[in-house]
Amino acid sequence: MAETFQPDLLAGKVAFVAGASSGINLRIAQRYAAAGAKVMVISRSEEKIAAAAASIGGDAISMACDVRDYAKVAEAFARCRDAFGEIDIVLSGAAGNFLAPALGMSANAFKTVIDIDLLGTFNVLHASYQHLRKPGASLVSITAGQAVRPMMYQIHACAAKAGVNQVTKCLAMEWGPAGVRVNAVSPGPIGDTEGMARLAPNEDYVKSSKSRIPLRDWGTKDDIADACLWLASDASRYVTGAIINVDGGSELGDAGGDALTVAPR
Ligand code: HXC
Ligand code: NAP
Repeated sequence: MAETFQPDLLAGKVAFVAGASSGINLRIAQRYAAAGAKVMVISRSEEKIAAAAASIGGDAISMACDVRDYAKVAEAFARCRDAFGEIDIVLSGAAGNFLAPALGMSANAFKTVIDIDLLGTFNVLHASYQHLRKPGASLVSITAGQAVRPMMYQIHACAAKAGVNQVTKCLAMEWGPAGVRVNAVSPGPIGDTEGMARLAPNEDYVKSSKSRIPLRDWGTKDDIADACLWLASDASRYVTGAIINVDGGSELGDAGGDALTVAPR
């Protein structure tokens, strides 16, 4: 596929990507590096995150770090700052999810997803502040449509991502005067990801899901990486507190059915 971005869009910038050992966030980290940024990636698994850094290439560095552990997150940011200097871009995307009815979920199961997605996002964004380039830094959280649209068997993720939206907006208000932008990207269903492998039980579900989306398909990891590239770059310099849907129009509601069956008058 032809590159859809300027290869030097992030030249000279430093990016920190949380939850980047796989999937969407790894593609974002790869995109940031391809656009010229120096990149540090973190996730829980030492082995997986080292492999991710190797796949990014250049001078990418990694550290095993659970976003639920504030002290470890702070250590990771200090390491990034020591290696590369002030941080321009922070991407908070670590998440956990599983399908379960509320009554099939213990309090600890609910708390686990809240802790990874919501507390983890607070920890990452909060711990980054003292290391950010000010003015000029851009922070991006990864949320989901479930933040605003309730979904069966997703009480934990819906609650957590709703919180991520508010953390994003509150920090945009508090840190805007210092020249720090804080936005979120809300992906729709994205193919070839762990997230959709967990949420889509079979091919019939996939087909039905695609038939209800205005653009009639799931998105790709590149679709999300391109939006995150724009938000990280100066091209979005007057955008803060925004939740950017990259979802083929999913947020608008169920667009199922064949529009041509209803003839215009
Ligand atoms: C009910 C479950 C469960 C399930 C785990 N638990 N899976 N309960 N149904 N299917 C319960 C456990 O029994 C335990 O509660 C509690 O959750 C914590 O489980 P652990 O395995 O100890 O947690 P941990 O090792 O921290 O692992 C976190 C995890 C795991 C979320 C459970 O699946 C994980 O590591 N996920 C990371 C990868 C991932 O989920 N990727 C998709 C993200 S995508 P008890 O009471 O027994 O102690 C995504 C996409 C969709 O978010 C967008 C929608 C928002
Ligand atoms: P994924 O591949 O499972 O990515 C999740 C990442 O988070 C992994 O790298 C994982 O690495 C890391 N992680 C999990 N728990 C962590 C913790 N406690 N501390 C640090 N890192 C942790 O899933 P994905 O489908 O690409 O999803 C990526 C993001 O997009 C998530 O925020 C998700 O909610 C969002 N999203 C996805 C979809 C979709 O269609 N897939 C839709 C909407 C939103 P380790 O296991 O090594 O820790």
